Amino acid sequence: MDLQLKGKSALVFGGSRGLGRAIAAELAREGARVVIVSRNEAALRQTADATGCLPLAGDLSAPGAGGELVRAASTLLDRPVDILVTNTGGPPTGSFQATDAAAWTKGFQGLWMSTVDSIQAVLPAMKANRWGRILAVTSVAAKEPQPGLVISNGLRAGLLGMLNTLSREVAAAGITVNALLPGYTNTDRMAELGVDNATMGPKIPAGRLGEPEEFAALAAFLASTRASYITGQAIAVDGGLLHSI
Ligand SMILES: NC(=O)c1ccc[n+]([C@@H]2O[C@H](COP(=O)([O-])OP(=O)(O)OC[C@H]3O[C@@H](n4cnc5c(N)ncnc54)[C@H](OP(=O)(O)O)[C@@H]3O)[C@@H](O)[C@H]2O)c1
Repeated sequence: MDLQLKGKSALVFGGSRGLGRAIAAELAREGARVVIVSRNEAALRQTADATGCLPLAGDLSAPGAGGELVRAASTLLDRPVDILVTNTGGPPTGSFQATDAAAWTKGFQGLWMSTVDSIQAVLPAMKANRWGRILAVTSVAAKEPQPGLVISNGLRAGLLGMLNTLSREVAAAGITVNALLPGYTNTDRMAELGVDNATMGPKIPAGRLGEPEEFAALAAFLASTRASYITGQAIAVDGGLLHSI
């Protein structure tokens, strides 16, 4: 299937490693011009060289960063962003009682405001072009809270409500807005949480963790022209982990 991504421009946050890197690589392979963002400049450059993407260093936990990075990416690309993939590092783990106001504020900036700011910044050009794709990488935690991840569980569930609301506002302008919900997928984040096939495999119907490329395949499709009638959805790539229908 030709995804008709040639000539499209994309901005992928958290693109140096893990899920973001896999999405950026897939979009670039399909012919899009892709800018990737992360904090560590050496890792970012290495990934950019390996995938044919353009590097743009930035920290999404800084106030206003989402919008600033969209504007910087448009300058690098010399055109507006057609495809925005919001994604960043997972917030700190912890129970409700162990989480203080500072941790909530940091989590809100990184997960929530960077998403809002960057979407606000891409919308005017997407509306003018009557074409746009907004993909938000969230988590299965948005639908089924996971133990010890109170910030992720709380904020990501709210994001789904916000994204669905937006999807209805912009659908007639040719812009789709979808959330992707990774299940347990083989990245540095899983190593950080101490999760591997031995500990988690038996709890997943597929019997194993997913691979970033399996997740990126859905992202590339949803980013494509072929997915023009799919919007407002929250789709899990989780090997059957979520029980809800
Ligand atoms: N992997 C999974 O199984 C899984 C499951 C559910 C949900 N998720 C969520 O999906 C997202 C991506 O997961 P992942 O596994 O790909 O994580 P990862 O392997 O840790 O990669 C995170 C990426 O985001 C970048 N990043 C982190 N903080 C950033 C910041 N403040 N500003 C800019 N870039 C930042 C990292 O680069 P730098 O550190 O250099 O900035 C890296 O490129 C996370 O929010 C995670 O919680 C993952």
